[in-house]
Amino acid sequence: MRASLELVEERLLKAVDTDQPLLRQSGSHLIRAGGKRFRPMLTLACSHLGDPGRPNLLEAAVALELTHLATLYHDDVMDEALLRRGAPSANARWDNSVAILTGDYLFSQAAQIMSELGTEAVRLQAATFARLVRGQINETMPRPDGIDAVEWHLEILSEKTGSLIATCAKFGAWFGGADEPTIATAEEFGEVIGVAFQLADDIIDIESDTSGKTPGTDLLEGVPTLAVLYALAGSDPAEERLRALVSAPVAETDLDEALTLLRASKALDQAKETLHQYQERARTLARSLPDGPAQKALVDICDYMIERDA
Ligand code: IPE
Ligand code: IPE
Ligand code: MG
Ligand code: MG
Repeated sequence: MRASLELVEERLLKAVDTDQPLLRQSGSHLIRAGGKRFRPMLTLACSHLGDPGRPNLLEAAVALELTHLATLYHDDVMDEALLRRGAPSANARWDNSVAILTGDYLFSQAAQIMSELGTEAVRLQAATFARLVRGQINETMPRPDGIDAVEWHLEILSEKTGSLIATCAKFGAWFGGADEPTIATAEEFGEVIGVAFQLADDIIDIESDTSGKTPGTDLLEGVPTLAVLYALAGSDPAEERLRALVSAPVAETDLDEALTLLRASKALDQAKETLHQYQERARTLARSLPDGPAQKALVDICDYMIERDA
């Protein structure tokens, strides 16, 4: 795995090795800044459900990380985020236009690599990306009438984050040559652990000062997260001030107070409980896979989901 991940790093940098100097600089900026490489790691881990020596696995892992990276460039424009992977975001270091075009360039490179993996891979990549965009845009829109707030929110997390992580797991199992039921379980595992991943990310936005991103960005941008939805649904008089603060995008001057109240709230505990439920669902799926190193790696990923703070 370690040797493969080193090759992933090389290929990522190769994908932005263009003769256009600004694109080369802006594209390599976030690759060099680090990142967890969770998605290529998942693809490579799932390849062990079959034969990790089969072709196309590395290419799939690289194309999926490039897709993820492209969404980060665009997401930071949408969220007006200044910090990413402990470095200035591309929109902060250059401007929104550079960030958007760099994201587009990364998508083009992902598509080029995918095209070498066959029509079915391209089709799946396109369908995955459509779901991701649908989730991102639904998040900016008012919830349709008659749908429960939490249910709608969890559906959005499936689309914006579960979609790509599910495809990472699926591609690993599929290009590894695993059998159909194993591929399907890996994909479902990816979807569920993907929602857990986003739930953890949203808790980290509230709790962590060491994530390499600015804490409270979701509150400032008025991006609804589960803890906020639970807080708004509550009626405890002790959380009245919290509800007033988070019922709209939080002003910069109120951010410290909102974070302090949210960190101490029952609503945050409730959000952690929901994360725990997704973790357990993912663990059950992982355990249902054939015994072996891949199964063990996926179970370990479930533990990591609760512990992670970046
Ligand atoms: C951040 O993804 C965006 C989410 C979907 C939560 P990661 O937390 O995987 O970001 P990096 O790649 O490690 O920087
Ligand atoms: C972004 O979610 C999800 C996607 C990029 C699809 P966030 O906005 O929570 O991601 P971060 O926290 O900026 O990494
Ligand atoms: Mg963001
Ligand atoms: Mg976030």
